[in-house]
Formats: sequence, C-alpha cells, structure tokens
Amino acid sequence: MAEQKATTSVLLEETRIFPPSKELVENSNVMAWMKKKGFTTEKEMRAWTSQHYIQFWGEMAKDYVDWFEPWAQLLNWQPPYAKWFVGAKCNVAYNAVDRHAKGAKKDKVAYIFVPEPTDQPTQKITYGELAKAVNRLANGLKSLGVQKGDRVSIYMPMIPETAIAMVACAKIGAIHSVVFSGFSSGGLNSRVLDAESKVVITTDGFFRRGKPLPLKPNVDEAVSNAPSVQKVVVVKRAGIEVPWNPARDVWYHELVAKQSDACESEKMDAEDRLFILYTSGTTGKPKGIEHVHGGYCVGPAQTLHWVFDIKETDVWWCTADVGWITGHSYVVYGPLVLGTTTMIYEGSPDFPDFGRWFQIIQDNKVSVFYTAPTAIRMFMKAGETWPKKYDLSSLRLLGSVGEPINPEAWIWYRDNFGGGKLQIMDTWWQTETGTFLVSPLPITPLKPGSPTFPLPGFNIDILDEDANPVPPGTGGNIVSNTPWPSMLRAFYRDPERYKKEYWQMYWEIRPGTYLAGDKATKDKDGYFTIQGRIDDVLKVAGHRISNAEVESALVSHPKVAEAAVIGKPDEVKGEVIVAFVILRTGAQESEDLKKELSKHVRTVLGPVAYPEAVFFVKDVPKTRSGKIMRRVVKAKALGNPTGDLSALANPEAVEAIPLIK
Ligand code: WTA
Repeated sequence: MAEQKATTSVLLEETRIFPPSKELVENSNVMAWMKKKGFTTEKEMRAWTSQHYIQFWGEMAKDYVDWFEPWAQLLNWQPPYAKWFVGAKCNVAYNAVDRHAKGAKKDKVAYIFVPEPTDQPTQKITYGELAKAVNRLANGLKSLGVQKGDRVSIYMPMIPETAIAMVACAKIGAIHSVVFSGFSSGGLNSRVLDAESKVVITTDGFFRRGKPLPLKPNVDEAVSNAPSVQKVVVVKRAGIEVPWNPARDVWYHELVAKQSDACESEKMDAEDRLFILYTSGTTGKPKGIEHVHGGYCVGPAQTLHWVFDIKETDVWWCTADVGWITGHSYVVYGPLVLGTTTMIYEGSPDFPDFGRWFQIIQDNKVSVFYTAPTAIRMFMKAGETWPKKYDLSSLRLLGSVGEPINPEAWIWYRDNFGGGKLQIMDTWWQTETGTFLVSPLPITPLKPGSPTFPLPGFNIDILDEDANPVPPGTGGNIVSNTPWPSMLRAFYRDPERYKKEYWQMYWEIRPGTYLAGDKATKDKDGYFTIQGRIDDVLKVAGHRISNAEVESALVSHPKVAEAAVIGKPDEVKGEVIVAFVILRTGAQESEDLKKELSKHVRTVLGPVAYPEAVFFVKDVPKTRSGKIMRRVVKAKALGNPTGDLSALANPEAVEAIPLIK
C-alpha cells in the first residue's frame, strides 16, 4: 500500500444512461417494499436504508427468514468484530429446504441440472426431493462421525450433489470448505490441512469437453499427509475406474442408501460458522474467510430478491462455479432460501459449440441470467451469429460479476443476450462481503460499466488515504463504514491477518472502516466505477488468484531460484498470468523449460493459475528489504512509466525486464 497512492483520476466519463422500463419498475420487488414504506424515490429509499441500516436489516431478517428463536440484540459491533441477531437460533438449511419441502413449494423445482454430455438427460429436482437427498447425506455424514463444528471439504464439479453436500453440512452444523475443482491436489492439500477437515467429499471424475476426467486421484494425493481426514466420500459421476482405499473411501450412493430421509436441522446460534471459503490475498497463503448461519439466512436471499427481482415463476441461472463465493451465495443459499428454481450446468460454455449456453436458456426458459464479463467477452469474440440462432425471449433481466465490465462488452451483452432492451445488474462484491454491496436495482437508471450505487442497508464510500471522501472523478479506496449481516466474521485461525488486511488502514482515524482492497471512483451523479485491486491479487477470467501463490508454485520447481508474477491485460480474460523467472545456477534456459514451468504451475495450483508466458531474467527489481516490486516489473514489461525507483535496492534490474506487449 505504502508504495502506491490510493488516488487516481479518471479521464473518460460515461454519459449514456439506460433507464429501466416502466413495467420493470412498477412490478419490481423493491418497488413493492418502497410503496409499503411510503418511499417515492430510489434516492430517498437508498439514503434512509443506509442511515437506518440496523433497523433495515432487522426488518429484512424477519421478512426473509424463519428463526427457531428470536434475537435479543440486532447488532453487537465491537470493531472489527460484528455479531448480528445476537442470541437468535436458526439454520440456513432449514430456511433453504426444510420449510419449502413441508410447505407449498414441495413440488416446485429447486434445481434443473444440465449435464455436459449432450446424450445425458436434463434432471429436475423438486424441493421435496432435495430435502430428502440433503437429509440422507446429513445422516450419512453423522454416521461417519461428523459432528457440529467439524470441517468437511467439498471438492466437486458443478453437479447437484455439490449443493446437496453443502446444505447437508449446514444442516448438522458442520462447517463446509468448498475447494474449486479447478485447483490441483496442492491447492486442495493446503486447504484441507489448514481447515483440518474430517471428511472430504468428491467425485470419481467429471466431464469436460465431452471427456470423462478423473478427480479422485487429486484427493488421494492431497489427503496423503492430512491425518485429520478420516473418510473420503465419492460420488460416482463419470463412471471411471479410480484407486480405492477401502479403509477410508466410501461411495456416496452406498452411504446414502442406508440412511433415513428425515433429519432435523440443528438449532444453530446465528453466529455459528456456516462455512470457510479460502480466497487469495497478498501473500502466498490463502486466507480462510469465515461466514455464519444468521447472516447467510438473510443477505443472499434479500439481495437476490431485490437486485434480480426474483419472482415465483422465474428460472434463475447464475453461471458461477460453487467453488467461488458467487456459487455459494447465488447458486446455493440465496436462491434456495427464496425457494427459487435454479439452473446448474456442468460443463464448458462452448461445448459442443458456442451455442450451448443459448440452447440452455432457450430449452429451460431461463428468465434471469447472471454471468461474468470474461464469458461475455468470449461470446463477443465468437460472434453474434450464436445468440441469433436461439430464442432468448424468456430472458427478462441480466447480471454481471467478478471484474469490471467494459462498456463495449456491456452494450454487446445488452444487445445480444438482451435483445437491446434488458437491464444489466453489474454487482460489485467479494468473498469477504458474502453478498452484493454496490449494485443497481431494477429501478435504477444504468450507466454502462458502472455498478451504480451502494445497496440499501450499506454505507459504502470511496476515501483518500486520510479517510476523506474523494471528490467526483477522483479515485480512492472503496470502504464500508458500517457492518452488515453477511460480512465475513474472521479468518480461520488467523485473527492478526484479519485485522491487518481489512481494518488497519483507517484504524487510527476511523476504527471500524472496512477496506475492500479495490480502487474506485464516483462520477458527479454518484455512480461508482471499480478500477481494480490495490493489492497484488490477479483476476484471471474472474477468478481470484494471488501473484504470490503463483510465484511460490514456480519457486517450488527445482530449477527456479526466484519469480515475479504479473497480470497482463487481456481482451477476453481481463488479465492473464505472465511470469519472470530467475533460474538457479546451472539450469539452462530453453523454450522447453518455459513450457515445463507453466505446466508445473498447473500441476501445483491447477489450470486456473496457468502462466500464459514465462520470461527468463537475471534479476527482478526489489526493495531494500527484499520485497519484489511487481508494480515496477509490470510497468516496465507493459511499456508504462515505472515511476519513482528510489526505493529500489537494484534499479539496474528494471532495464533487464523485457517489453512483453
Ligand atoms: C472484483 C467475486 C468490478 C473486485 C464476487 C473484488 C468486481 C474482487 C466486480 C472479489 C464488479 C467483483 N465490478 N470488479 N461487478 N465484482 N469484482 O472474492 O476486484 O472472487 O475485490 O468475489 O472481484 O473477488 P471474489
């Protein structure tokens, strides 16, 4: 941080405005609430709910959630620790499935599952069936000795059993830790070790681009040095032979076959941990973000209902993988708590061709669609003939998440998915925040590339380094001035890092100010634009990866002495990974070695972290304390001004960094 000024200015201002249709506004969920409360303008409503945020969340908690026992206090805020709904008892699994299965939604479809192989049929799972499946697995986990508070790692592809496994853990009070199946065994290993998981749930394999690929061998490798792991539960998905350890491994179908389909949801304290999700930060060690039951009952459902205006008849498709926070909040907990019908698609967007997603929208009459800019840019590149071939008239609202969406892609999305008329909810948020924080509502006039305003119940601002709100057009740090129910509670077993990374920046001036780690700016009308991360975190195709993690993967190769990793801007993926590598003495530079190093990173971390290019250098610029100056490496490599180099121990290293454009 100290090396980098928090303020930057913006040169281009977006002037196009896209107002919502009268019909959308008048029929929107948020407008119904506004009418009930007597608000006449969006501005007035956003201002009131921000100011009265505690009262607002109390009201939302009553509207969206069934509580076993009420709270004694809405909020106990001892910065940097918030407790919401203090003393209340609840369970997100009860709200997500139990109450629907015994009520009017019993026969409503909860999940529509589209397998990747085109010869496998689409599967529909009702809330009644979902509840039974969750209960059987919950009982199965209990039979394996899993108890309240135990950690269970879930390493699975996008299939319904993944959501079932998450909710089954929640039901019995176990804490799930979902690990994206695109991470390799190394990524899984560090997460299993840190969480000390008792059980890992996985599959034999998964389908990718029409081929069954093995997944379980990664688990075998990852748990080989993890003594906490007592059982590995394996879903038979790909039907392939996998190595088997009879003392430890259990087939999912055999486990659940023996179990009753009834299971009471554990009465959890609102602040009891629901899950840990590891995410990337500034160091090579992923941080275990902790979220709680109470906040997760309220936040995802309320934000989904207001922002995406979910109605009883909607078919909701959030294309995110459950391995990331977007999947947790908006494929699993948010839509299930609302009792919505949600799509799950197993595979690649372009398999067997670029028509696949459009086909899914057409066949299943998807009405609200939420994806990432990288996917939109991929479709842009493939061309508009693909969306034109399909009937997309079921769509009524669109969304975007994960990285800034450039106005060009925004317009293309609106034109080609939305027939030139659908509104796009560009939602800004993070693993840490659990839900959208800055986002349009269906009533908001839009500017392409802007997530517009802080949502009701939040106090988000942009500050300079002295904690002053920045004037329009000037960039600064995006912060939250007040706590909210779905916020992170801590880092698993690392309280110091939690304080340092999110709260230290403004502690002396305004304790309790949450530093998000993004730069942003507001225009004269108050519209936010997100400019990107202030720390060393990459966003590759919307996936969050830390530079340091990739560097340490490279250094784990026997021929590598040191490495500096940067993100290079990319038309489709936002950025791609480029590595500058210093070889150990005696190692020979070669094109083959470059390829080998990229492959090595893929093996250690997984395909998401694959370096697109590797360059050999003799040295990298460093501070006197030995910290690699990635900012300088990046500026030189991209041909930008390198700025002040006085802090460098070895300024001559800058010259040796090649131009990579
Ligand atoms: C970025 C993903 C611009 C941002 C939900 C944030 C965005 C990081 C947007 C969190 C958006 C997310 N516009 N940038 N609409 N949404 N980001 O934890 O840099 O995987 O800090 O959560 O993604 O990534 P994470």
